[in-house]
Amino acid sequence: SIERTFSIVKPDAIKRQLFGQIEATIESKGLKIIAGKFLQLSQEQAEGFYAEHEGREFYAPLVEYMTSGPVFVQILEGENAITAYRELMGTTNPETAAEGTIRKLFAVSMRENSVHGSDSQESATREIEYFFQPSEICA
Ligand code: CMP
Repeated sequence: SIERTFSIVKPDAIKRQLFGQIEATIESKGLKIIAGKFLQLSQEQAEGFYAEHEGREFYAPLVEYMTSGPVFVQILEGENAITAYRELMGTTNPETAAEGTIRKLFAVSMRENSVHGSDSQESATREIEYFFQPSEICA
């Protein structure tokens, strides 16, 4: 079915000017970009977004990294968009990511892994609502 998923192009990718290549990869897979904007996340925004990871050893450095520069937040729409985009991203760890995936191509490390994508329908709904007003979505 047609789904929506939430995606972030992270600071490491924006800094290295990989934004256009990442968007081209997404569009080449048939996913439609139906909303998007650049943001400089505040500490509170990053902490709230990653609240499920609070208490993990990587949480504080993750928040510091996600606030270290601009990100691009976006909504992708398409057939099985949640799974399709996760497959396109590759695994969290770029060393184990499959050939041709965004993280295999571009990610630096487990933390600086270039992109985020929702892991479930529930996450997608929560994450879209966390960053977007309905009026910002151009479906
Ligand atoms: P993301 O899909 O945005 O969800 C949580 C993020 O935390 C993940 O991508 C990585 O950027 C980071 N992350 C997850 N696990 C680790 C880890 N073991 N070490 C460092 N960073 C991690």
